[in-house]
Parts: sequence; C-alpha cells; structure tokens
Amino acid sequence: MKNIPPVDLTRQHKIIDQEIESQVIKVFRSGRYIGGTAVTDFEQNFAGYLGVSHGIGCNSGTDALYMALRALNVGEGDEVITTAFTFIATSEVIVRVGAKPIFVDLEVNGFNFDLQQVAAAITEHTKAIIAVHLFGQPVNMDDLMAIANKHQIPVIEDCAQATGAAWNGTKVGSIGVGCFSFFPTKNLGGCGDGGAVTTDDWAIADQIRLLREHGLVRGAGAKVTYRHDLTGLNSRLDSIQAAILDIKLRHLDSWNGQRRFAANNYTQLLENVPNIKLPQEVPGSFAVWNQYTIRIPNRNSDSSITRDVLRNKLQEKGVISMVYYPLPLHLQPVYQDLGYDRGILPRTEQAAQEVLSLPMFPGITFAEQQQVAYSLKDCLEQL
Ligand SMILES: Cc1ncc(COP(=O)(O)O)c(C=O)c1O
Repeated sequence: MKNIPPVDLTRQHKIIDQEIESQVIKVFRSGRYIGGTAVTDFEQNFAGYLGVSHGIGCNSGTDALYMALRALNVGEGDEVITTAFTFIATSEVIVRVGAKPIFVDLEVNGFNFDLQQVAAAITEHTKAIIAVHLFGQPVNMDDLMAIANKHQIPVIEDCAQATGAAWNGTKVGSIGVGCFSFFPTKNLGGCGDGGAVTTDDWAIADQIRLLREHGLVRGAGAKVTYRHDLTGLNSRLDSIQAAILDIKLRHLDSWNGQRRFAANNYTQLLENVPNIKLPQEVPGSFAVWNQYTIRIPNRNSDSSITRDVLRNKLQEKGVISMVYYPLPLHLQPVYQDLGYDRGILPRTEQAAQEVLSLPMFPGITFAEQQQVAYSLKDCLEQL
C-alpha cells in the first residue's frame, strides 16, 4: 500500500504546470523581479476575488498581521484579544508591536475562539481583536462584528488557513482587516513565502503600503526621493510569486470545491466510527477545509497518549496525519512571563491533546480517503 501524505501539492500543480512555466519565464525575461505589473495585477485580482478595494501583497502572513497591527496603531501597553489555538505567528506579532496577547478559550464545538469570552475579555486597554479562521472554518463574523462595533474595536482577520471561506455569503478577509498567507500549503499557496493584507479602508491601505517598503513615500506625495515617513520593513511580494499566485487564484474555487468534497467524503466514511469526533460545518459557514481535523477523546487520564499512539499506528499503515497544535500558545515557554497557568483555558488544552488532522488536499482520491478511513477504524480497534 502506498503512503498517503498530509499534503501533496504536485497534484494541483499538474494542471497548471505549463502555464506556470511560461509566466515564470516571462517574468524572468522581463528583467523586473520586484514590483511591476505581475504584482499589481495579482493584487487587483485578489482584492476583486474578495470584493474589497485594496489587496496589498507582502512577504508572508506573519508580516501581513504585523503590518495590520501597526496600521491600527497597536503598540506598547495595548491588549489584543485572540485565540491560543493557532500557529504562533498570530500572537508573535502582538508581542512584536509591544502589546499583550489576551488569550481566550475555544467555543464548545469547533476550533475557533468563543465569542462570549471575547466580549468578556474586552477592557479599556483592548486595541484590537484578531480572529483566526482556523483550519478553514470561518469565525461567526456577524456576532464578532456586533461585539467589536459595540466597543469600537477594530478586528483583524487571520485568514492564513481560510482563503475563499465565507460567513453568511461574505468572504473572510473582507470584513475586518484581512491578513493572508500564501505559504505553499495554504488554500492559495505560492511556491515560496508570500502574504497579503486586504481592506476597504484607504488610510489603512496607505499605511500598509508605506510599512511594507521601509516607510518609503512614493509618487506625488514624495517631494524628495528616498523620503521615509515611518519605520517600516522590507516585506514585498516578489514578481515571480505574484505571477504564480495569479494563475493559482483562478483555480482556487475549484480546489476549495475539491477540499469540500473530500471533507464530505471523510464525514460519510467516518460517521459511524465510535470514539472519535468529526468536524462540523455550522449553519452560515462556508468552510474551505485547509485541514480536516478530528478529535480522539483521551482514554488515559493524562495528556495526549491515545491520540499519539493512534497517530503512530496510522503511520505504520502509511497514513501520515498531523497534530495542529500540540501545545497551545498560552503554555509556550516563550510566553511564560504572561502568567497563564495550565488549566486556565481548558477547552483549548483539551483540543491540543485530542486533535488529529487527516490527509487533505485538492486531488486526494476517494480510494486514498477510504484507505485513511479503514486504517483509522483498524487502529482505533487496537487501542
Ligand atoms: C493561522 C496562521 N496565522 C499566520 C500564519 C503565518 O503565515 P506565514 O507562514 O505566511 O508567515 C500561518 C501560517 O502558517 C497560520 O497558519
């Protein structure tokens, strides 16, 4: 039996291979590798896809989040509410601007933050909320925006894992300030690092454009050359990546459709399997399944033993699963000084012990999904 990897990008790339080759060569032969029409075309098309006025390409999802916080003037002494069940980039940027991450617990079912707890965590120091649409499942943006608007707190959407997802028909990243990652394994992934900030707000867009290029003022506003208005960074999306992303953007809906189809297959194949919990798409949600993450409730009093044994057994059968994320952010050594003790975010901590992400990517075959499902059933019986 052949191995089933967690992600296989070569399959989605097959259908665009020649187009990518000719566009990459075109950029190469143009002699222009930073900026230019490859970047502006993609930025426009990406903004159009989301239905926003501005898409600003940058170096990574991490930089997108960092610049969004800077553009919203979040800094020293401020608090930013977010989830502890995410990739560390989400909180890293909060610390980098000098603010404090305020971690709230997860909703009862699902892997996004609990909105009641978000509301309860708001203080006079709260300067922003970062919603993470984890695994491609959108946060309930209607309810979140109602809370945020009531307190006039801006919302940043970490859409790294959710390009194309929507809440009640509105795409994520078009509601708050959208921050996207084009890391290769994301729903829209480049062939290297990349990211974007999306917004309808001219002032925020202008700030991001300044920040991504050393605070450099371009165009009519720059009365002198090399005029720098603020301390920025070098965070441009390069032209070859932009050309690749522009091609891949045209296939995004089809690839997300394949992910949705595959998620549905897993749900049908696994629905009667005892001792696991399947992910759900709640009403209002259009999920894009960057991950299909099940839960393996613990049979041991302590920790993640059941899940980890299962994961090893699956691997022996050629099914490579992943654990996103085994240690929640509030318990990370780097955040010891924030003073979060174990037990403070019980749902998050339990999720970290139970989650297992199954192979999920456009082009995964039904036969492979069957192999995953049969192997999973087999291994669970052996536990
Ligand atoms: C939820 C989340 N936020 C932010 C990031 C950071 O994106 P990047 O790797 O492009 O910096 C990632 C990517 O891994 C992510 O999964």
